[in-house]
Amino acid sequence: IPVDPFDLIIFGGTGDLAQRKILPALYRRFCAGQWHEDARIIAAARAGHSAEDFRRMVAESLHRHAAVRASESQRVSRFLQRVDYVPLDAVSAEGWGLLGEKLSPNRVRAFYFSVGPNLFGPLAERVRAYDLATEDTRIVVEKPFGHDLGSARELNATLAAHFDESQIYRIDHYLGKETVQNLMAVRFGNMLFEPLWNSQYVDHIQITVAETVGIDGREEYYERAGAMRDMVQNHLMQLLCLIAMEPPAKFDPDAVRDEKLKVIRALDPVEPHHIVRGQFSAGPEGVGYRECVGNPRSTTESYVALKAHVSNWRWAGTPFYLRTGKRLVARSSVINVMFKDAPHSIFGEEAGRHANALSIRLQPNEGITLKVTIKEPGPGGMRLIDVPLDMSFAEALGPENQDPPDAYERLVMDVIRGNQTLFMRGDEVEAAWAWTDPIIAGWLARGDVPKPYDSGSTGPGDAELLMKRDGRRWQGIKP
Ligand code: BG6
Repeated sequence: IPVDPFDLIIFGGTGDLAQRKILPALYRRFCAGQWHEDARIIAAARAGHSAEDFRRMVAESLHRHAAVRASESQRVSRFLQRVDYVPLDAVSAEGWGLLGEKLSPNRVRAFYFSVGPNLFGPLAERVRAYDLATEDTRIVVEKPFGHDLGSARELNATLAAHFDESQIYRIDHYLGKETVQNLMAVRFGNMLFEPLWNSQYVDHIQITVAETVGIDGREEYYERAGAMRDMVQNHLMQLLCLIAMEPPAKFDPDAVRDEKLKVIRALDPVEPHHIVRGQFSAGPEGVGYRECVGNPRSTTESYVALKAHVSNWRWAGTPFYLRTGKRLVARSSVINVMFKDAPHSIFGEEAGRHANALSIRLQPNEGITLKVTIKEPGPGGMRLIDVPLDMSFAEALGPENQDPPDAYERLVMDVIRGNQTLFMRGDEVEAAWAWTDPIIAGWLARGDVPKPYDSGSTGPGDAELLMKRDGRRWQGIKP
């Protein structure tokens, strides 16, 4: 279904995110016929390009990042006809008058701040001062949304000075991933799981986001952020929320976000011995973290594993183990819900004990596996073994669903539709910082140095110990 006509203004239109993600996503939605014929993109950036230069740049990006084929050249030209460019300065008057002239009345206006957070304030102020905001205006901002609670509050206050919360779209691109949305579908669309989804039946939950990539090209940002700020405070906490939250009454923005917020607020502070920080070293392959950032004494973590507790009726006593890291053995994001043993074995202990486990694979090879216990085949008596009930979305849904759409395709269209369900609310972001800040402050106060781990490994050995101490172990990161 086509969305309403829109003017999408991308500040930072020549930047990496715009070229790599936002414009390719918009192109794919254009190809899918979701654009109204009056919809347009106006990129704004400081670099003094002409509109023609800019279109050439977009065409190149589409070839590189949207797998455009030679046979699509006419479609690309039609798309580029909808793309305009305004040279503009976020902190002076330059370009704002021209931008105003290019905007059409009576359309959705989405201002995408694809720039550093230091420019959110100046941009918001000028959008207002030049009277560019209409009733149908939305503001889109990207992470990092702050560096800590104080800076996140400031950013929220800056945006709130000019716009209503209902106009602000804070992107966490994990929420746009098809399989992340599937977490809600699996939980709240089935009768099967929800009655067991609590501490009475669930022993513990593991959330793993393992990456093979390093930090190339982002050294400066990453050195200041580390895995805690870059991944845990946002993506992993969002996954935790979707797994732990109560069923919202409706799939609507505030109903969903209220429930997520309750989860974050129910998180206990993390004990220092329940958290492991790591930093990749060269190992047999590659370059170590410290070499990458050119700081031989860097104490920034590229890996975090921790044990969290959601202190509420549903989850008291069921730990959530979270881990994420760069330069690991495989790219694999997966959530494992590990159920308790059956309370009593009628087959006797010698038959073996097996607990059920539900694995939700977010990427790659999206799908679900339920580990169930059956009888070992053969005449030799009653012995139990595990078998997987395995479902890959690509197989189940057919070849046309092999490649799920990129998260940005869903999110940018939701901005135009005015649907905030998959965007973070200001209070949610602040609550997440309120939980992570003391962890980071503790590291600083103790002079904590992350444990080295080999590039291409599964992370530091201490992360295994974190589990072993509790009589548990991580499910493998699949190579
Ligand atoms: C980004 C982080 O938000 O998410 C990156 O800044 C990380 O460090 C990326 O690599 C992971 O996203 P995805 O979609 O590749 O899992």
